[in-house]
Amino acid sequence: METVVVIVGAGPAGLATSVCLNKHSIPNVILEKEDIYASLWKKRSYDRLKLHLAKSFCQLPFMPHGPEVPTFMPKNLFIDYLDAYVTRFQINPRYNRTVKLSTFNMSNNTWRVEAENTTTGETEVYWSKFVVVATGENGDQYIPAVEGITTFPGEIVHSSVYKSGHNFSGKNVLVVGGGNSGMEISYDLNNHDANTAVLIRTPRHVLTKEEAYLGMWLLKYLPVKVVDILVMMMAKTRLFMYGDPSKYGLLRPKQGPFATKFLTGRTPVIDVGAVQEIREGKIQVINGGIGSIEGKTLTFENGLKQDFDAIVFATGYKSSVCNWLKNYEYVMKDDGFPKNPMPKHWKGENNVYCAGFSKKGIAGAAQDAMSVAQDIKSILETDRY
Ligand SMILES: Cc1cc2nc3c(=O)[nH]c(=O)nc-3n(C[C@H](O)[C@H](O)[C@H](O)COP(=O)(O)OP(=O)(O)OC[C@H]3O[C@@H](n4cnc5c(N)ncnc54)[C@H](O)[C@@H]3O)c2cc1C
Ligand SMILES: *[C@@H]1O[C@H](CO)[C@@H](O)[C@H](O)[C@H]1NC(C)=O
Ligand SMILES: *[C@@H]1O[C@H](CO)[C@@H](O)[C@H](O)[C@H]1NC(C)=O
Ligand SMILES: *[C@@H]1O[C@H](CO)[C@@H](O)[C@H](O)[C@H]1NC(C)=O
Ligand SMILES: *[C@@H]1O[C@H](CO)[C@@H](O)[C@H](O)[C@H]1NC(C)=O
Ligand SMILES: *[C@@H]1O[C@H](CO)[C@@H](O)[C@H](O)[C@H]1NC(C)=O
Repeated sequence: METVVVIVGAGPAGLATSVCLNKHSIPNVILEKEDIYASLWKKRSYDRLKLHLAKSFCQLPFMPHGPEVPTFMPKNLFIDYLDAYVTRFQINPRYNRTVKLSTFNMSNNTWRVEAENTTTGETEVYWSKFVVVATGENGDQYIPAVEGITTFPGEIVHSSVYKSGHNFSGKNVLVVGGGNSGMEISYDLNNHDANTAVLIRTPRHVLTKEEAYLGMWLLKYLPVKVVDILVMMMAKTRLFMYGDPSKYGLLRPKQGPFATKFLTGRTPVIDVGAVQEIREGKIQVINGGIGSIEGKTLTFENGLKQDFDAIVFATGYKSSVCNWLKNYEYVMKDDGFPKNPMPKHWKGENNVYCAGFSKKGIAGAAQDAMSVAQDIKSILETDRY
C-alpha cells in the first residue's frame, strides 16, 4: 500500500509521532511486530518496575498527567496512561508485522518498506515518502560473550524476560550489571529470599529518585556543573552517614551524575533499596567482570570462584535498526544510534527520521516526535508550492 509516512514501532515514540502527524493531517501508518503497542512496557519489563523519573518527564505530546497521578508512577499507571492516549487519539497500529527490510529508491525518491506477517510469513510492501524509525534504544537484548557459558546448567535470563524473584527463592543467583535494572532486580531477588550477588563493573552514581528529580528540575535553570555539585552534596551526606560506600563495592565515577549522563549516556542508578541491603551484607557485591564459567562454578576477573544456580543478565540492550534499515547510514551509525549530533539527531538524509534515540527516555521521545512531525509538515508544504 502507499502512504505518506511509515512509522516503524508502536512504542511511546511511534505512538507520539503518529499523533503529531495526525494533528497536521499527514497520513501515516505504524507497523509493529508484536500484537500490542508499547510492548516493552506490557511484555518486557519486570513486575515491580516504577518509573524512575518524575511524571512530568514521562508524558507524551498533548496529554499531560493529571494532578491525581503520583509523582513516581508505578508501571501499571503508566500503561493505563498509554491505553488512554491510544484511545483518545484513535491510533491504530498494524500489528504482527515485523519490518524486515527498508530501502530508498533514488530514481523516484520513495521508500519501500517490507513487513512480514508474523503468522504466515508473507511479505507486505509499503511505499512512502517518509520513514520514521521508532524501534527503540532497547531493540535487542545484549548478553556479553562469556567463556564456557554453554556449560552452565542453571537458568540464564536477560532482564527483559525477568518478571519477579518468585521462582528463585532459596537459589544462588548472580545478577550481572549494576545499572538501574540490575540493582532493582537484585533488590527484588533478595526480597524473595534468593541468595543474591550483583556483579558491578562500571562505577555508577547512586541517587534517590527525589535527588534525581531535583537535579533534572534544576537543570532547567542552572549549568550541569553546578547541579552536579548540589546533587552530590545531598547524595554524599546521605550515603556517607553509614560509612564510605566504596567499602561495599559501590564505586563512583569521577565526574558528577549529570555530566556522566551527558558524556557517556550512562544514567545514575536510582536506588530502590538495594544500597541498604548491600550495606547490611544481604546482597553481595562483586566488582569486575566474569572470567569464565565451568558448570555451576563462575570464576571472576578478580580471582573469586563461586557457585550459582541462575544468572540474570542486566547488561542492557542494543539498537536493532541496522538489521532492518538497509540504508541506515542516512540516519544512524553502525551501532544503530543517530549519526547527527543533538539537537538535530532525529533528522537523516532522504526523508528518514528517528524518534526515541536521544537517551532521554519518554521526554526525549516526545520531543523527537514533535520535531519530526513539524519537519515533515514543512517539507510537504514546500513541495506543494
Ligand atoms: C526497565 C526499563 C525501565 C525504564 N524506565 C523509564 C522511565 O522511568 N522513564 C523514562 O522516560 N524511560 C524509561 N525507560 C526507557 C524506555 O525504554 C523509553 O522511555 C521508552 O519505552 C522508549 O520508547 P520507544 O517507543 O522509543 O521504544 P520502545 O518502547 O522500545 O518501542 C519500540 C517498539 O518497536 C517495535 N519494533 C522493534 N523492532 C521492530 C521491527 N523490526 N518491526 C516492527 N516493530 C518493531 C517493538 O516491538 C516496540 O513495540 C525504561 C526502559 C527500561 C528497559
Ligand atoms: C497476532 O499474533 C498473535 C500471536 O501469534 C495472535 O494471537 C493474534 O491473533 C494476531 N493478531 C492479529 C491481529 O493478527
Ligand atoms: C496474516 O495473514 C493471515 C492469512 O492471510 C491474515 O488472516 C492475517 O490478518 C494477516 N495478519 C496481518 C497482521 O497482516
Ligand atoms: C524505483 O523506481 C522506479 C521508478 O518508479 C522503478 O522503475 C524501479 O523499478 C524502482 N526500483 C525498485 C528497486 O523498486
Ligand atoms: C515509486 O516507484 C514505486 C514502484 O517502483 C511506486 O509504487 C511508487 O508509487 C513510486 N513513487 C512515486 C512518488 O511515484
Ligand atoms: C514461575 O513459577 C510459576 C509457578 O510457581 C510458573 O507458573 C511460572 O511460569 C514460573 N515462571 C518462570 C519465568 O519460570
